[in-house]
Amino acid sequence: MPAQDRILEEIAAAGGWISFARYMQLALHEPGIGYYASGARKFGPQGDFVTAPELGSLFGRTLARALRPFDRILELGAGSGALADVLTRELECEYWVLETSAELRARQRARLDDRVRHLERLPERFRGAVIANEVVDAMPVHVVHWTEAGIMEHGVGIRGRSPNSGFVWVDRPAEGELLAAAQRITVPAPYVSEIGLAARAWMRTLARTVESGATFVIDYGFPAREYYHPQRASGTLMCHFQHRAHADPFVRPGEEDITAHIDFSALAAAATEGGAQVLGYTTQAQFLVNCGITDVLAEANVQNALHYAPLAAEAQRLLSPAEMGELFKVLAVGTADCPALSGFASGDRRASL
Ligand SMILES: C[S@@+](CC[C@H](N)C(=O)[O-])C[C@H]1O[C@@H](n2cnc3c(N)ncnc32)[C@H](O)[C@@H]1O
Repeated sequence: MPAQDRILEEIAAAGGWISFARYMQLALHEPGIGYYASGARKFGPQGDFVTAPELGSLFGRTLARALRPFDRILELGAGSGALADVLTRELECEYWVLETSAELRARQRARLDDRVRHLERLPERFRGAVIANEVVDAMPVHVVHWTEAGIMEHGVGIRGRSPNSGFVWVDRPAEGELLAAAQRITVPAPYVSEIGLAARAWMRTLARTVESGATFVIDYGFPAREYYHPQRASGTLMCHFQHRAHADPFVRPGEEDITAHIDFSALAAAATEGGAQVLGYTTQAQFLVNCGITDVLAEANVQNALHYAPLAAEAQRLLSPAEMGELFKVLAVGTADCPALSGFASGDRRASL
């Protein structure tokens, strides 16, 4: 059954309304219908979007320098396996992967063979480095509508009377944990934005799980002050289909990526609640420069344009403020005994969280 019909059915069975977080969970991750659970190509030039590891090996080779102090790596949401492919060649350590999509797990196994060990679930305790590159932006978010009359939850209903006519936003008064989180955010009504309750819970769990080491969250987003800026009054939801971005998540459920930016202040607070410390926070560009991306580039043969030109183009995508350099951030949280993290040696912005 197509994702749209399956979600419409669930909305009807729930009395005409589900939260946007539930909609996003079904549209992205539900076995059989979700975008990540299905066979769509997703990554790379022929897919819908390109992530840093998909650009080439420069990102992975540079990140490897930050990961050398760790004996074990756990990558969450490994996508096509591109990052694991580079890191397992660069580093001599155990490499574990936790991937929620069975389809992507199969693709990773085919590409990486016995270089990685796939986990079924998060271990009880973990010592080492956890990496999540562009994973948190795919976690379901709740959508909140701050109005003059109060704080509402923007959920999903069925348009009109026909059962298959598509989706429509429907407000209900926000309740419980969502209301409490929304009340702590000061914005000028009317204002619509997202709150990542699932990402916060995930971060709290990871903070408790990592008994020695660090978790690196690499993704696009801002500290709360910028995230909930008065001018960002319609939120950060974004869909990606064949390298075109648009902001209507109801167009092609199950066939395209739906994402929200990361509120890094909320993630850092969740990590602290789980008992971890914030070890560093900076832009992707600053992090990669601190890790020595220029040394990695210098290893290439500058005289050979065929070899060097693509690397230079990759560096430009990773570092330029107009591309991934400034919007993408790296947040590291972990334990007091974690080895020093070279990626935050200069330009650490954790005071902005
Ligand atoms: C946008 S892709 C990024 C893939 C890869 N990290 C990269 O940078 O190319 C998101 C990935 O995270 C996975 N994923 C989403 N939620 C997850 C979760 N809670 N735990 C583990 N993996 C998850 C998806 O199935 C997919 O592999």
